[in-house]
Amino acid sequence: MRQPVPNYRRCARKTIWAAHANLRRKSMIDIVCGGQAGDEGKGKISAYLSYKGNYDYCVRVGGPNAGHTVVKDGKSYTLKNIPSGFLNPKTKLVLGAGAYTKTEWLLEEVKLTGTRDRLIIDPYAVLISDEQTAAEKNASHFMQHIGSVGTGLGQAVRDRIERRDIKFAKDEPLLKDFIQDVPELLNGCLDKGGEILLEGTQGIKLSLLHGEYPFVTSRDTTASTFLGEAGLGPKSVRDVYVVFKPYITRVGPGPLERELTDEKQLEVYHTKGHEVGSVSKRLRRIGAFESRSAARAIMINNCTKIAITHIDMFPGNDRVKKYEDFSSEAKTFLDNLKALCARTYPHPEIALISTGPDMEDTLVL
Ligand code: IMP
Ligand code: MG
Repeated sequence: MRQPVPNYRRCARKTIWAAHANLRRKSMIDIVCGGQAGDEGKGKISAYLSYKGNYDYCVRVGGPNAGHTVVKDGKSYTLKNIPSGFLNPKTKLVLGAGAYTKTEWLLEEVKLTGTRDRLIIDPYAVLISDEQTAAEKNASHFMQHIGSVGTGLGQAVRDRIERRDIKFAKDEPLLKDFIQDVPELLNGCLDKGGEILLEGTQGIKLSLLHGEYPFVTSRDTTASTFLGEAGLGPKSVRDVYVVFKPYITRVGPGPLERELTDEKQLEVYHTKGHEVGSVSKRLRRIGAFESRSAARAIMINNCTKIAITHIDMFPGNDRVKKYEDFSSEAKTFLDNLKALCARTYPHPEIALISTGPDMEDTLVL
């Protein structure tokens, strides 16, 4: 029998076409990172970007020690598990292999946000056990020395690193409808020209690698790690948003420049500024804006766009709608930040300014 003769010219054309198609893949991942010690308002910024944007997927990595707050039309959601992009009904919500959650906490949030039909979980996202939470809560090293939130994340990360018998999302029957191959799904979306928002947790000062060790969380908290935790690569990144407040907060111990001690001033931050731990419920410590750590956050994350939240903590800036209407104190802060961006690669622009708690209280520059 005659063997079919391979059509080498056609094969070669196909291969070349495929290579070009790959080269042509547009950069369609935006990442949201924290530029300080967590609680910069990443939840609000992710929610805003997702609501106004056209993302196919909003991906969350990291653990439930990070509470992301989203306020829409006066209704406030504190999310420890579900990505903050849930308000856009067209956006599917994804937990990557670098996400840690607890089945009951996750399902509670799924119910609260009505997102059962659009949640996708990587089989290797980790489910924190009650034993891991108890072990962390009972360890004075975690709770007193580091000031851990006590969710069990640190213990779960430790058990994963030690290759213990931990529970993955694929092992939980209650989650079986949500399980999909996340790297395949997300990279397939990019191949088709889709868009992805990657929501990170905590901030540079809490990074296990680049933060203020030992007063840090149990993971790195920068853009490149978030990508790896989701199963994405760096070539498809469009913008990296780094979120800052005009001051810094910390819920646990650790360095804070020029920490505020005046009780009356602190009370304003704790009341008007809602500076109370969304998961830990501890009153947050308040320090001054740190230019050096801001520059490191821009540098390490390769930040292209900056989002400022809590600008309304400068008196007279509540729900300001135009840049010209900011107070001179707020303008001086923004001018100094612009100067810092001008001398720090990749010279990000200030893109978003949040002037109040609601998602819509956001100024686009
Ligand atoms: P852990 O990650 O719960 O072990 O906490 C380690 C340190 O990071 C503690 O000082 C916590 O208060 C702080 N931390 C962890 N997650 C967050 C967060 O999402 N926002 C602010 N601080 C956090
Ligand atoms: Mg938070």
